[in-house]
Amino acid sequence: MAEPQAIYLSDYRPPAYRVEKTELTFDLDPNATRVRARLHMHRHDDYDAQAALTLSGHALKTERVAIDGHTLLESEYRIEGDQLIIDRVPTSFVLDTEVVIDPENNTALEGLYVSGPMFCTQCEPEGFRRITWYPDRPDVMAVFTTTVIGDRQRQPVLLSNGNPIERGELPGGRHFVTWEDPHPKPSYLFALVAGSLECVRDSFTTMSGREVALELWVEAQNLEKTDWAMASLKRAMAWDEQAYGREYDLDLFMIVAVDDFNMGAMENKGLNIFNSAAVLANPQTTTDATFQRIEGIVAHEYFHNWSGNRVTCRDWFQLALKEGFTVFRDQSFSSSINSAPVKRIEDAALLRTLQFAEDAGPTAHPVRPDHFIEISNFYTLTIYEKGAEIVRMLSNLLGEEAFRRGSDLYFERFDGQAVRVEDFVETMAEVSGEDLTQFMRWYAQAGTPQLTARSDYDVEQRQLTLTISQQTPPTPGQSDKQALHVPVRMGLIAADGQPVELVLNGESHGTDTVLHLRQAEQQWVFDNVAEGAVPSLLRGLSAPVRLEYPWSRDELSHLMRFDEDGFNRWDATQRLALMAIEEMMVAHQRGELMALDARLIEAFRHLLREPTDDKAVLAEMLRLPSEAWIAEQQERVDIDAIHGARRAAIEQLADNLFPEFESLYHANQRVEAYAPTPEQIASRSLKNVALSYLVANGEPEALNMARAQYEADHNMTDVRAALTLLAHSDRADLGDPAIRAFGERWAHDSLVMDQWFATQVTRPQFDALERVRFLMAHPAFSIKNPNRVRALIGAFTQQNRVNFHRLDGEGYRLLADVVIELNRLNPEIAARMIVPLTRYHRLDEKRQALMRGELERIRQEKLSRNVFEVVEKALA
Ligand code: ARG
Ligand code: ZN
Repeated sequence: MAEPQAIYLSDYRPPAYRVEKTELTFDLDPNATRVRARLHMHRHDDYDAQAALTLSGHALKTERVAIDGHTLLESEYRIEGDQLIIDRVPTSFVLDTEVVIDPENNTALEGLYVSGPMFCTQCEPEGFRRITWYPDRPDVMAVFTTTVIGDRQRQPVLLSNGNPIERGELPGGRHFVTWEDPHPKPSYLFALVAGSLECVRDSFTTMSGREVALELWVEAQNLEKTDWAMASLKRAMAWDEQAYGREYDLDLFMIVAVDDFNMGAMENKGLNIFNSAAVLANPQTTTDATFQRIEGIVAHEYFHNWSGNRVTCRDWFQLALKEGFTVFRDQSFSSSINSAPVKRIEDAALLRTLQFAEDAGPTAHPVRPDHFIEISNFYTLTIYEKGAEIVRMLSNLLGEEAFRRGSDLYFERFDGQAVRVEDFVETMAEVSGEDLTQFMRWYAQAGTPQLTARSDYDVEQRQLTLTISQQTPPTPGQSDKQALHVPVRMGLIAADGQPVELVLNGESHGTDTVLHLRQAEQQWVFDNVAEGAVPSLLRGLSAPVRLEYPWSRDELSHLMRFDEDGFNRWDATQRLALMAIEEMMVAHQRGELMALDARLIEAFRHLLREPTDDKAVLAEMLRLPSEAWIAEQQERVDIDAIHGARRAAIEQLADNLFPEFESLYHANQRVEAYAPTPEQIASRSLKNVALSYLVANGEPEALNMARAQYEADHNMTDVRAALTLLAHSDRADLGDPAIRAFGERWAHDSLVMDQWFATQVTRPQFDALERVRFLMAHPAFSIKNPNRVRALIGAFTQQNRVNFHRLDGEGYRLLADVVIELNRLNPEIAARMIVPLTRYHRLDEKRQALMRGELERIRQEKLSRNVFEVVEKALA
């Protein structure tokens, strides 16, 4: 077979035939579901009668094709690969097709498939073509009517988009429900769920006084885990009204939890389908971090109803139009509820470690790619997170008020349409009068811009000159980069800790301003600045860039204490810690003793004794930079030095500050009933950071505290933190029994078992890899379930760097084995799992050779388009 080919944005053409109305009938059967489709089609004005009708389909057994009621002979249409072509059709016509599909053997989890006791669908981006022949592209929007026929006993619940309009009994113990969705939508928003499910009901009254029925559908054993998602949904609905003026537009909104799901969740119109891991929660089974993640995802999918469904994407190159905007919206929602600086720290840390790494690797791509082989490979951190950063910059550039006018106009003007990134940005330019021509480059250029800043102080003139230059490194297929429009939020902190008034060209800008860097290099002269002021740059990470500035350690300590911007206080701490750890890495490489910089210890002592920050931010400041972030800073990545030095830094902080951490731990014990409130979350976060230092110190007393916390069994956040410390310690006599007890207690709950898997395989000890192989044979593990694969294989390869990168190459071999198996079962997950193997470019020669060797081995297989695309890029 020919190699998969790329498709290009520049080749876009409007569809030759539109669908005005889509009528579907599903006769459900695990191995032979019959799908009848009636499409009311009309030729687009730009095309003439010569235009052939081309529909997409995959793994369909075609039983009938008819036009205007006349069944076509097999000679009157052709099926070529994934296309059905009819050369001549009328201007307007009704197309009937009948196909048979096999949901039970659909392990790709795209289209209609079986998960546990239910049938469910995932159609974005191109799953609908696995259901029926269709112009499966987002710019074809139709009104859908769907009849689902199932077995009365096995599928008592039959759901689809919109409102139920008819239901009834059928012979042979079968029944049906007909659903009608009045809002025209692309096929990727279609959904169907059928099975034995329980429902939790609630309602929401919209700002115009309409009552919306809310339904959360789960398997019976999960009924005790639905409160949080329902509460989150109602908060999200209220927030979208208040922050964006967006009201829900159907009488019914449904969420369904399914166990087998490739991603987090899906915004199907009126019927959101969720990975059960992204919706089910209760205090006994769920950590604070997951409670917050669920709140964010429930909101994200709900927000898509406007940013995605009412206004959708013209083509998949525009994916960030809906995803970047919606991530920005869910981030804003979450920060309105939780600690705003911590939310920003978490989002920025994710971006800087994982998205920057993507931008620097072989799969780097612009936020709006101009070509792809397999669109499923582009649900990336770049599209989602960098896409959200671009919208954040726009919102900051325009100011809240103009941004809101812009979004109102965007929703109003493009309602019911499938549009492009330009439509969004041009609307923002129109309402604000800003020239966003240069800004558009953010969508087109891949790679993380590097800013280099310096300041020069003139004692006589009392002037501080700030010089900032920018440079974006080459990425695959893009060697030359142009200057971007980079908003740099900044301030100056005087020697006495006070903020400095910023005077530029005789004009005051208060103590916090945004500099607009548009050229390769620019200067700003601040007047009337006393000697010793320290610049605080890129506050709140005001742009998705790297920044270099020659801060001394004293200056960083100064920023840690006095910067008004919580994010930059945290960032200063990270920078100071990074300098100390890098020094220790050098000692590690030379085989010398690794001594931690006393200034970092003093800075931490200060933080612990006189905490100026709220608890939530303090807890973040006390966490050392992750191994992934340290690696991001290195030209040559030394896996073992990073791990060894970071570990030694933690131990030395613990040795020097044991009493401080101990009192912090005790001061943050809480006795009240668990609730995922910001205050409680902050206390637990602080307490558990303290405990991790105490345990690192190695005193048996500290491990006993961890054991006591584990046994107290107060909530999963505390239990999991303690379990991790026990299981990652060298004390098998403590770790093993805890792991055993936990595994037995939670054997019935697959989401908790995922935490159990991940905890074990992230052990720093040398046996972690053997544990992975061992646990792959555990009855609770299944390679067909993406959550299990992520918990076991994903956690090991992404969060256990020392062991994944073992010098004997066993970590790479393990991952390649898994990818080869997944390539056959679930290509989308395979292409995600393979990523750590593609990040070899800055490692040592030995590891590079081993990793390339495994990629070559994978390449010998008959590859899916998904894996093919990633492997080709990685070996290019
Ligand atoms: N639109 C969904 C979301 O962001 C993600 C769907 C991704 N689907 C996929 N097959 N990659 O909420
Ligand atoms: Zn989304």
